[in-house]
Amino acid sequence: MKKKYNQAPLPFMGQKRKFLNKFKEYLMTCPTDATYVDLFGGSGLLSRAVKDTHPKARVIYNDFDNYKQRIEAIPATNQLLMDIRSMIGEMPKDKRLDQALKNEILDRISKETGFVDYITISSSLLFSMNYATCFEDMAKSSFYNCVRLSDYDASGYLDGLEVVRMSYRELFKKFEKKQNVLFIVDPPYLSTEVGTYTGYWKLADYLDVLTTLNSKQYFYFTSNKSHILELCEWMGTYTDYSNPFKNAVISTTKNTMNYNSTYTDIMVFKGYTTTV
Ligand SMILES: C[S@@+](CC[C@H](N)C(=O)[O-])C[C@H]1O[C@@H](n2cnc3c(N)ncnc32)[C@H](O)[C@@H]1O
Repeated sequence: MKKKYNQAPLPFMGQKRKFLNKFKEYLMTCPTDATYVDLFGGSGLLSRAVKDTHPKARVIYNDFDNYKQRIEAIPATNQLLMDIRSMIGEMPKDKRLDQALKNEILDRISKETGFVDYITISSSLLFSMNYATCFEDMAKSSFYNCVRLSDYDASGYLDGLEVVRMSYRELFKKFEKKQNVLFIVDPPYLSTEVGTYTGYWKLADYLDVLTTLNSKQYFYFTSNKSHILELCEWMGTYTDYSNPFKNAVISTTKNTMNYNSTYTDIMVFKGYTTTV
C-alpha cells in the first residue's frame, strides 16, 4: 500500500499542511498531463500532493533547502533518537534535562560521522518551535524531554518527483516559455525571521516573485501580514499595472501563534478557467 502524506515526513516550518485539502480540490480542476513546477518546494509536500493527484503529470520539486538530504538521513536520525530515548529513560514528558544528561546527549551526537539532521533532532529536544541547524546552536540551547516515540518514515515520498536545487529565478526561466506549465509559488514570509531556512526576504524580493505569476496558471501562497494582495489590487486600480490576482480564487486559513496573536494564511489559485 502506498503511504499517504498529509504532512511532511520530517519537521519543516512553513509546510502547507493546512491547505492540503483545498489545494488538492483545486488541483482536480487542473490538467492531468501538465508540468507542475514547485518553485519554492520546501518540504516537497505540495509536489507530493500533485504527483498523487495527477500521476501522469511531470512534477519538478525545487529542493532549495536540501530536504532530500534529511530524508536520506532518516535511518541515522532514527538510530540517534533511539539512543537518546534510552539515555533519557523514564523522565516525564517536557521536563527540562539537567546539564549532565544534556552533555551525554551532545557527546552522542558529536560521535556521528555523517550528516546530522539537527532540525529533526531539535524537535525532539528543544522547546516547541525552536530549531538548531548546527551542533553549536544545539549546545547553546536548553534540552527538554520531547523525544518522539516512533521512528520517522518517508517511504515513497520522493517517488516520481524530479528533484532539482536552484534559485527559483533560474528554474522559472527554464519553464516560463513552455506550454502547459503550472507554477506553484510559495515564497518565504515577507520580512519575518525565516527560522531554519536561509536568507531574509525584503519587500523587493517579495515583489520580484510576482513576475512569475504572469503565466496563465498558478498557485500562490502568502499571508495577510504581507498585504501583497491589497497592494496589487490598489496598483491595478490606480496605475497601469496589471494585477496578477485579478479573477483568481482565494482561500484562507487562520493560524494561532499564541493566545493573543493570529494571522491568516492565503492561497491564491488561477487555473485555465477562473471558476472552480
Ligand atoms: C514557505 S517555504 C515553502 C514551503 C513548501 N511549500 C512546503 O509546503 O513545504 C519557502 C521555501 O523557499 C525557499 N527559498 C528561499 N529562497 C529561495 C530562492 N531564492 N529560490 C528558491 N527557493 C527559495 C526557502 O528556503 C523555503 O524552503
